Amino acid sequence: MATTESTWTPSSWRELPAAQRPEWPDEAALAAVRERLGTLPPLVFAGEARALLASLGEVCEGRAFLLQAGDCVESFRDVSAPAIRERLKVLLQMSAVLAYGAMLPVVRVGRIAGQFAKPRSGPTEIVDGVELPSFRGHIVHSDEPTPEARIPDPERLVHAYYQAASTLNLLRAFTKGGFADLTHVHTWNREFVASSPAGQRYEALADEIERALRFMQAIGIDLTTERTLHEVDVWTSHEGLLLEYEEALTRTDSLTGQPYDCSAHMLWIGDRTRGLGGAHVEFFSGVRNPIGVKLGPSATPDDAVALAERLNPDRVPGRLTFIARMGAAHVREKLPPLLRALRESAIPVVWACDPMHGNLVRTASGRKTRHFDSIMEELQGFFASHREVGTWPGGVHLEFTGEDVTECLGGSEALLEEQLDNRYETLCDPRLNGRQSLDLAFRVAELMRTV
Ligand code: PEP
Ligand code: CO
Repeated sequence: MATTESTWTPSSWRELPAAQRPEWPDEAALAAVRERLGTLPPLVFAGEARALLASLGEVCEGRAFLLQAGDCVESFRDVSAPAIRERLKVLLQMSAVLAYGAMLPVVRVGRIAGQFAKPRSGPTEIVDGVELPSFRGHIVHSDEPTPEARIPDPERLVHAYYQAASTLNLLRAFTKGGFADLTHVHTWNREFVASSPAGQRYEALADEIERALRFMQAIGIDLTTERTLHEVDVWTSHEGLLLEYEEALTRTDSLTGQPYDCSAHMLWIGDRTRGLGGAHVEFFSGVRNPIGVKLGPSATPDDAVALAERLNPDRVPGRLTFIARMGAAHVREKLPPLLRALRESAIPVVWACDPMHGNLVRTASGRKTRHFDSIMEELQGFFASHREVGTWPGGVHLEFTGEDVTECLGGSEALLEEQLDNRYETLCDPRLNGRQSLDLAFRVAELMRTV
């Protein structure tokens, strides 16, 4: 039974089936960890989640664009300052391209500082010919390919909390401490990116931004006091998959008395856990953060409207983001009926496009990859669907890294299948590299101009 606002509690989800829940070998140890996490400081504040809600409200009404992007899954091994800085640089570059291209504010949300848990299509996977429990993220177990390493360990929830805290700390320092200053727009272009066609196009755009800033200065605008030039907001998000972790970090806001999941500013429910009678929808119906729901090709218009009724009963613009991930082959047929149904329901939602998860393919050698052309094709279908229905294509949801990895095929420099092994480092899904991400941002900015 679904709860109502008056019967919901942070633990009411426990009465319902939680899809994708790992097989914890020791429930008592897990409960003890949940208790410990419950006593630790929140990672974000309710007021910040409300500020993001307000920004997403602007997206909902067609006055801003959402850029949500980051790793498929963050690694416990990779928490270095350079790794965080390089991801941030590409995110800042992409948002500059989108904001300048579309002349609209861009709301930046990272898949970062908590994106540690993965849903999987099957309970087992084959690694080097051996069948093992599927890897579910470092918050659950190690990725080492042995059966012992894959046993879920609740202590990892605590490790995840501290890694999220240190990542968020650095992210706050970078975004508020001068690194994201718009007058540094040139310095975000790294060498391996700058040498590519998209990198050169970015150099030209950065020149134009600098000229615009000098012009503003010339006519007497004091740029030093304009906070928005020197600081940016980069909000955090992750898939709210492990409800023990999310419950433990839920706090009552002292200002409003409302519950907020303080593990991140925004949380989303995955395509595999969005069942209306399930634990995930129950949990997220009660916290007040902005919430996302992934909608794959099996989502019907009725499913989408029922989810919207349940997750946004007060019809708050910005509360709910539907992240469509239909696949390039289905988007033009599957998405318009959902857009129409939501419009008829009059429940406000942000529509974002995840062009990554519906376009996974395997190479003959078994590598998971995605082709840049399929990613673009889904994005084109997403924009075309919105044009057809007359709704606002609110944003994109991407998996990328700042590094020069070789995980996705194609792009303006045509990464080939035989190059995938050069630097294939992801722990789960293939990510766009820095060049491909920037290339994609330019193309999305062009699509936005056609709206
Ligand atoms: C993801 O975003 O990494 C993911 C697993 O997505 P989906 O739920 O859309 O498959
Ligand atoms: Co993924």
